[in-house]
Amino acid sequence: MRLEDETALITGAASGIGRATAERFADEGARVIVTDIDSNGGEAVADELADKGATAEFHELDVTDGEEFHAVVDAVAEEYGLDIVVNNAGTGHPSSRLEDTDDSIRDFVIDVNIKGVWNGCHAALPHMKEQGHGSIVNVGSLASILGLPKQAAYSLSKGAVLNLTRALAAEAGPYGVRANTVCPGFTDTSLLEQYLATEDDPEAAREAMAKEYPLKRLGNPEEIADAILFLASDEASFVSGHGLVVDGGFSTC
Ligand code: NAI
Repeated sequence: MRLEDETALITGAASGIGRATAERFADEGARVIVTDIDSNGGEAVADELADKGATAEFHELDVTDGEEFHAVVDAVAEEYGLDIVVNNAGTGHPSSRLEDTDDSIRDFVIDVNIKGVWNGCHAALPHMKEQGHGSIVNVGSLASILGLPKQAAYSLSKGAVLNLTRALAAEAGPYGVRANTVCPGFTDTSLLEQYLATEDDPEAAREAMAKEYPLKRLGNPEEIADAILFLASDEASFVSGHGLVVDGGFSTC
């Protein structure tokens, strides 16, 4: 098993990509610390993993709250050590031109997508540096490498995630800590459903989107989780500061 005896904390693990990552990590023998702002959903995921024989526990965590993030990470690190952190929790916003986007939407997206990732790195790094190893995987987006029209706030936030991760890789590498970003294309999750729901015909919008992809379909959360697993595991022991695009070839054409 690829994560045997390792402890991994995942944010936003009640749903979508985070949930699939929790399941994948559990299959590979990790102790999984499921965290989410959604306590019912998060508890259910941890219970489901435990029912299958995995070691899992849930901690309620709003990633925008730096103090809370530190408290959860400190408690986990003290009890088990902390080998892997996946900063996955994120949010989107309805499509709108930059000049029509409210400051409140911009600030909310920055709080969750940038400060949430920052808080996770800020809390985990002292422990990882002290123990001399650790792997941080941040979840970016195609919007980390492309500027998406009518998604300026989201693009701003996800571009920042990629470059924050690069800075972290340079800074923490000498302590044995790696940091990488996964950049998913459109992936079938509730976040995508919310995005499509703002279109006049969500199903037609989904089909049109899928046609744009060389593989003629959108991604599924398990495919993103596999990429996160690779970067988190020792198989990627010489990979750091990388942005791994998982988009079925969309960004290449
Ligand atoms: P999702 O909506 O299925 O899951 C997001 C999870 O994050 C939810 O469980 C939610 O409760 C949690 N969350 C939201 N705000 C939080 C907060 N402040 N603190 C803690 N947890 C919070 O969405 P999905 O698609 O699984 O998103 C996961 C990540 O993947 C996000 O960072 C998103 O930006 C990114 N992503 C998703 C893509 C897609 O097409 N679904 C494409 C590219 C990136």
